[in-house]
Amino acid sequence: MTKLLRLDASFRGDASVSRKLTERLVAQLSTEKTEVTTRDLSKGITPIDGAWLSAVYSPAETRTDAQNEIVAQADILLNELRDADTLVIGLPIYNFGVPAALKTWFDQLARKGETFSYSENGPKGHLTGKKAYVALSSDGTELGRACRLRNGLGPAYAGLLRHHRRDLCRRRQNHDGCRRGHGPCRIRD
Ligand SMILES: Cc1cc2nc3c(=O)[nH]c(=O)nc-3n(C[C@H](O)[C@H](O)[C@H](O)COP(=O)(O)O)c2cc1C
Repeated sequence: MTKLLRLDASFRGDASVSRKLTERLVAQLSTEKTEVTTRDLSKGITPIDGAWLSAVYSPAETRTDAQNEIVAQADILLNELRDADTLVIGLPIYNFGVPAALKTWFDQLARKGETFSYSENGPKGHLTGKKAYVALSSDGTELGRACRLRNGLGPAYAGLLRHHRRDLCRRRQNHDGCRRGHGPCRIRD
């Protein structure tokens, strides 16, 4: 049994292009032996704050009930990611960057000692051996270019996840649902 985690972040419901792409990718990647978990980030994800920071980095034995609750919620996301062999991430571009909900998902998962640590060569990701597909939909990103978001966060996110193969499957559609281009695209380190 392999496990696939599908993430959607578009708040455009049935009109969402990235959702259609993630749906199609999941269908293509799934077999009868694939267990699919879907997390719709547009339905809500708690932003990290000072309370989150204190909770996550406090020793388990000293946490208050409120802190235990915060860590329990964060651990749900972390375990979903840990369990997944494959990630399918819908990435709509809003205002030249990733949706806030998707950024929050990364914030929730960036836990020093759990998902990354610092080494002499900089941050080192701990979650290895996974394969990720990013279904990007935008109105303006040019085709034929390396998949580098204008805010430069694409490579940073890939580094955080430490994908074994850092391939982005880039597929774009316009609003008529007509695919304008696709192809594997390596994230630059
Ligand atoms: C609030 C908002 C901001 C957007 N900003 C950009 C942008 O900066 N660059 C761009 O190329 N497209 C932009 N778009 C177009 C979306 O990227 C496009 O509609 C895409 O299909 C969104 O993904 P979705 O259909 O899954 O929601 C924006 C759309 C919305 C609704």
